[in-house]
Parts: sequence; structure tokens; C-alpha cells
Amino acid sequence: MTRSIYILGDELTPGEARCPGPTPKDVIARDGDSPPKPLLAERYEFLGDEDVPFSRYTDPAFFDREISHMWSRTWQWACREEQIPKSGDFYVYDVAHYSVIVVRGDDRIRAFVNSCPHRGMQFEGAGACGSGKQFLRCPFHGMSWHLDGSLREIPCRWDFPHIDDKSFTLMELPCDSWGGFVFVNLDRDAEPLDDYLEVLPEHFETWDLGARYISMHTEKILPGNWKMCMEGFLEAYHVIATHPEGLRTSGWANTQYDIFSPHVTRFLQTLSSGNPHYERELSEAELFASLGHEAQALPAGMGARQAHADIVRERMGSRLGVDLTDVSNSELLDSIEYHVFPNACFFPGITIPLIYRFRPLGVDRTIHDIMMLSPLPASGERPPPAPTVRLAEDDSYTTVPSFGGLGRVLDQDTDNFKRQWAGIRASLKGHETLGNYQEARIRHFHQTLDRYLVQ
Ligand code: FES
Ligand SMILES: [Fe+2]
Repeated sequence: MTRSIYILGDELTPGEARCPGPTPKDVIARDGDSPPKPLLAERYEFLGDEDVPFSRYTDPAFFDREISHMWSRTWQWACREEQIPKSGDFYVYDVAHYSVIVVRGDDRIRAFVNSCPHRGMQFEGAGACGSGKQFLRCPFHGMSWHLDGSLREIPCRWDFPHIDDKSFTLMELPCDSWGGFVFVNLDRDAEPLDDYLEVLPEHFETWDLGARYISMHTEKILPGNWKMCMEGFLEAYHVIATHPEGLRTSGWANTQYDIFSPHVTRFLQTLSSGNPHYERELSEAELFASLGHEAQALPAGMGARQAHADIVRERMGSRLGVDLTDVSNSELLDSIEYHVFPNACFFPGITIPLIYRFRPLGVDRTIHDIMMLSPLPASGERPPPAPTVRLAEDDSYTTVPSFGGLGRVLDQDTDNFKRQWAGIRASLKGHETLGNYQEARIRHFHQTLDRYLVQ
């Protein structure tokens, strides 16, 4: 018989109700291994419980407003520094109709609008990357610019007496790095990246994503509006129906949701702690077996999570060539996801070192980047970034071996989208109804989006 997981919250104020059972904080306290401070931080506020109109996902006018008011004014990660390691390397970042070419010069990385000042030709096509550029030469009429954006040459210069060499430069955009990610902003008056990222740099002080490398990168087309697809990754509520195999080991309904600031939210889901709401209580040996080990191999007097962590620490440490001795159980095992508005998620964990990015391809299709960022080996040598694997809408993540078991989980997530998108358009109700706590990040995301759209 399934045990009830519902608690009546009548006596509580809205947003105050929580699922009974140990919280991530309780699980971490039981670990007793002093994780970095940010894992003990908690910040939630009730943001209202009104329905959210589906037109925000489906209406082309709303989509256009996102492009003109939001995508044009937010910091977005364009690429990793390791993808453009040498002078002359470039990477094209596209979002909606915007296109930016990120170029490493001799002195620093710059971002330019990927559109020739002459008649608008793109210097490089969508999604292109490469190396060896001494300068940027337009493939249409051959005008060229130095890697700092200054004019280099105009063929038939005599025909352009009205051009001032000094001002006929490439349009440079704000560009800065955090954690090895190169961010760009289409707003030339943008606030500094560090201010935009709010609590993120402080939280990631002990999780230097710059000291990681791309061990896997996929780009997949998803059916549905970019917000709908992204929101499928912002809550753990869907584990109950979408990932039933996780029900034995994950404290999914006890996930902690944090709303730190306008641009930064987080969830913290313990994955190897057992599920207090499983149909029956598992013994530690059963939990250990559910985590993929021989039940009888559980050392006497040791909890399953600790024993599992010790094994993972050892195995992953030797596989990655890194010493994971000082990495806490939670950092090692749990699903810790920071979302940075508008479209990126950063997981500092070791077994789940994921990075997500969601970009619209029109109102009804999304391009989803997934990276795995593995710690650099102890030798300090940076392995070359894994090449990008491009997956079509019907391709399975299980075809990418480096995902391991995650491939199936990602398929479960993304297989929902076709039917959710169809259902959103079929809805006569016309609104979605969100949970006060577990879906608070989605509501918060829309509230931040509105801040941009009204301006
Ligand atoms: S469009 Fe670039 S040189 Fe003419
Ligand atoms: Fe999921």
C-alpha cells in the first residue's frame, strides 16, 4: 500500500507547508562532514498562488516581447573559455535572431555582433566555431577587421570616401567570464556581470567551475516553448511520475527550493538518502542495494548513504584522477542545481556535474545544451573539450555513452515535452496552476521575466 505523502497545511500560511520527513539540511547534518556554507543556506518566500497563463508560452507577441525586452538585455553564457583557448579562436553564440561572435585576441576575449558593418553578412554561420583567425574577414566582399574590432581593410577603398576608418569598427558587446564560462550581453549599457550574478560567485567560491573541463556536450532540439522545457528541470515534483525508479533512493518531495535573488534560484535534492515517502521504510541494507551494491556488503554500523559515498568517492576519484577525500557527501552525491536567469543551470556536484542552457528556436522549439563538467585531473593538465554531439528531436540521450544512466533519465524528462506542449495548446482552462513551494522557482522565473518585459 502506498503511504500518504500529503500533509494538510490548513493551519499554515500559504507557502509554509512542507512535506514531512527529513529535509536536505537534516540529511546533510546526519552526514556530519561540514559541507561548504552555501549548502546550509536556505531562502524561500511565498510569491503568490495565481495561475500562470499559457499564453506566456504560446503567444507569438509575448515571444517577440521576450526577444526585444529580455534576450537583448540579459547576460547569457556563450561558450566556455576552453572552447576558444588560443588567440584567433572564435565561437558563434546565437539566441533568437541575435548572433554574437566571441573571439579571443592576443590580449583578451571580445564579443562582436555577428553582422558585417557593410551589408550585414554574418562573419560565421550559426553555431560555428574554429581557430586560426588573424582577423575577421567578411566572406561577401572581403572587408576585414582586426581581432580587437578595428578596421583592417576595405577592398576598393576609393569607393568609400564617406567612411571614417576609426568609427567603422565592429560593434563590440559586453563580454566577461565567470567560472570558465564566457558571458555576453547584447545591451551595451549592461550592468557588470558580477553584479548580475548576485550570490552566485560567492556560493561557487569553493566550486571553481573554471577548474573543470567539458567531458561531454550535447545539443538537442526539444518540442515546445523554451520556458516550458526549462521549467521541466526546475523542480523535483515530477520524480513521482516521470522518474519512478528514483522513488526508492531520492528524497524528491523533501527537496529544498531557494529563491536567493532576482536572477538566482536553487534546488537541493538528496539522491542517496532514501525516500521517507516510499511505500514502506527500507532498511539501510535495502537502501544500499537500491544504490547498486550488494546488500550484505554494507559495513556493520554504517548507513547506506555513507557507505555509498565512500565507494563513489573512491571509484570516481580514481577514474577522474582527482582526490575527492575532502568533498562532502552532499557535493558528491546530491542534485544541486543553481538557475541563473534567463536560461542556464549550473550543478556544482561531482556525480551530477551538469550544465544546462535553453534557447528558443521560435516560439515552439527549444535548443537544449547539456554539458558535463568534470574536475581537472590532479596533473592539472586540461583534457581537450569534448566535441558537441547534436541530437535531433527524436534521438535518445542513451545514444551518448558518456551520460551513463543519466541518458535514460533525460529521455524521461524530454519525452514529456511533446505531449505537454500539445496539452498546453489544447487547454481550454488556459492557465497552469503551480505548487507554492515545489514550483516556486517557476513562479519566480516568470516574475523576473516580467521585470524585463514591462520596461
Ligand atoms: S557584407 Fe561584408 S564586406 Fe560586404
Ligand atoms: Fe527530471
